[in-house]
Amino acid sequence: MDDVLQNIMDHAVAVAREAGQVVREALCDEKQRDVMTKSSTVDLVTQTDQRVEHLIIQSVKKKFPTHRFIGEESVAAGEACVLTDDPTWIIDPIDGTTNFVHSFPFVAVSIGFSVDKKIQFGVEGKGAFCNGEPLQVSDQEDVRRSIIATEFGSNRETETVEKIFSSLRNILNIPVHGVRGAGTAAVNMCLVASGCVEAYYEVGVHVWDVAAGSVIVEEAGGVLMDVEGGPVDLMSRRIVAANNGTVAHIVKEIDAFSPTRDDAP
Ligand code: IPD
Repeated sequence: MDDVLQNIMDHAVAVAREAGQVVREALCDEKQRDVMTKSSTVDLVTQTDQRVEHLIIQSVKKKFPTHRFIGEESVAAGEACVLTDDPTWIIDPIDGTTNFVHSFPFVAVSIGFSVDKKIQFGVEGKGAFCNGEPLQVSDQEDVRRSIIATEFGSNRETETVEKIFSSLRNILNIPVHGVRGAGTAAVNMCLVASGCVEAYYEVGVHVWDVAAGSVIVEEAGGVLMDVEGGPVDLMSRRIVAANNGTVAHIVKEIDAFSPTRDDAP
């Protein structure tokens, strides 16, 4: 990795740790988990989400004033969600806000960094690490011996819920060893990267949920795909992250649909 990118990544790690400490403290303080809603009554946000996103953006701006941002809460507040070729930080201050609100202790500060529309951190061949330990996806080739992670998301429209359940039924009927969901896309993707689950899929995620996780999965040896096969498009709100191409064949069991893209005008 060149010095410039290393410098940026070092800052990302430092600010993620700082943000993580704020989130950890807030998890123990009911006042900091005051809940508000966004697109629906089950799409939650707290002041801590907003505060942490502000903290990250201000810290990065100070050091890298020309960089751009796509942040979950800034987009919710009306900022554009446009990925350009410029250096861009893609931030979800608390991925797993519903978990956070309920003190269900699985949340992530998710920070991806892209240049030329490609997520950069971890640069090919450099590997993925958790607290210094290298991550490696599972070597399981048999989907029937796999755990698959997915989420129900926050869209409760009848047609969407039906499709989610139809996919789930198909996956369970393969049959797989189990289906899990941590309540955060970023953690689900790190579970794929760590080899604890073989694959994660979801329709309805946002770019800030999966930008950082996507490079972590690839650097740990995994593959990314669209839910109908073909290359993943991080703005499409559809993703499959798997340990290998064989397990990624779960795509044929997914009842796919197309939510409004993140970069829709
Ligand atoms: C959500 C989580 C959840 C997934 C949703 C995401 P948020 O992110 O990743 O697991 O099902 O699609 O929007 O709102 O907690 O940042």
